[in-house]
Amino acid sequence: MNKETLTWVGKWTFILAAAGSAVGLGNIWGFPYKAGTNGGGAFVLIYLGCILIIGLPIMISEIMLGKRYRGSPVSTMKDAATESASSSNWQAIGWGGLIAGVVILSFYSVLAGICLNYIFISLGLEGEIDSIAKFQQVTSSPLQLLLWHTIFILITAWIIAAGVISGIERMVKLLMPMLFILMIIMVVNAFINGNFSQAFSFLFSPDFSAVTANTYLSAMGQAFFSLSLGMGAIMCYGAYMSPDQEIYESSAIVAGLDTLIAMLAGLAIFPIIFAYGVEPNSGPGLVFISLLSIFADLPFGNIIGGLFFLLLSIAALSSSISLLEPSVAFFAEKNILSRPIASSMLAGIAWFIGLGSLLSFNVWSEYTFIGSRNFLDSMDLLANQFLLPLGGLFVAIFAGWKLNPSIAKAELGGSEFVFRLWQFFIRFISPVLVFGIFIFQFI
Ligand code: PHE
Repeated sequence: MNKETLTWVGKWTFILAAAGSAVGLGNIWGFPYKAGTNGGGAFVLIYLGCILIIGLPIMISEIMLGKRYRGSPVSTMKDAATESASSSNWQAIGWGGLIAGVVILSFYSVLAGICLNYIFISLGLEGEIDSIAKFQQVTSSPLQLLLWHTIFILITAWIIAAGVISGIERMVKLLMPMLFILMIIMVVNAFINGNFSQAFSFLFSPDFSAVTANTYLSAMGQAFFSLSLGMGAIMCYGAYMSPDQEIYESSAIVAGLDTLIAMLAGLAIFPIIFAYGVEPNSGPGLVFISLLSIFADLPFGNIIGGLFFLLLSIAALSSSISLLEPSVAFFAEKNILSRPIASSMLAGIAWFIGLGSLLSFNVWSEYTFIGSRNFLDSMDLLANQFLLPLGGLFVAIFAGWKLNPSIAKAELGGSEFVFRLWQFFIRFISPVLVFGIFIFQFI
């Protein structure tokens, strides 16, 4: 593969691919339940702050580095360090990213598999069901979880094996418009069948009495995860960006679309939650338990439910491919392995680690790994609250302090004022906040 000439076709392909990476389970499953358990509006406000002042400057940096050095995160960081006469140890950011990608993919695929399974469960709904029992039935069977986990990871590996243009590009052009249309249908459904005004005030009128130090950590972790930052996915996609594409504008569109979809997911879910008198703070089971019982009750609920879980699965797929791409790109660019072989091998590793997450719903539910957390929650914690914030912190320090500013300026273009603004945030605001919030969890 010639990395110099491999480029997305047209400006919108990069935007669709990056938005496809960003919009995923984090937006439609994670954001609503975290907003629900953290008291609503205040969490939303802190989350928006994290996106804008931590996420956006780091996203600009990742895209800039990818676009200039055009490699996997490892070689991008290595080349970037060399050109700015910095230590080649900075490539550790790239290595951390490859590992984080495989770790996240391992549990992401288990969750996405449950979503795939739920498409069929919803379509088969006939009248009342006990949705708690249903969820327990789905998750108590290691074999059933294994089947869907395997299907999901095979689809991911197959797309990545097909390559950047015929795999990723073709897929996101198909999936992203579908996702957007399905989302609008879900919001219209919530508007008609739900209590829209109560949901609106729950999401947008902040009550700071529910805010603790943990709210900040959770909102920041969620912002990194949701924007796909700190592990090289966006950097890797930036490597296929056309050289004349604007970075500020593209970053703002991607971050904006990601935020829009998270908000729309809230507006699709909470109105029906409230209309049915269900508590918004039920946690990770919010969509699988609370929503399912509501779908069972709605007119045409089986179709609406089926569409909802299809939407969730599509969003998950366009994200999971970006979790696998950085490590596959690394092996392929070095000609160590072909893309299909690298893709099968790395997906196989993620599949294997995923078995731990899958078992944590049933056979391993009593085993704890980090603190009192089961395997799945430990992997989630490791990724969201350690690997991604640390990856993002080091990207910010590198881009702000180590990279030669004239290189950044040449790559970013635009006005002097916007450049100075980015530079100020990436030097003083983003890293300090990430570090502060990160350290806070230990005291
Ligand atoms: N952003 C994706 C989501 O919101 C998850 C993801 C994280 C994808 C990191 C790639 C890299 O679900």
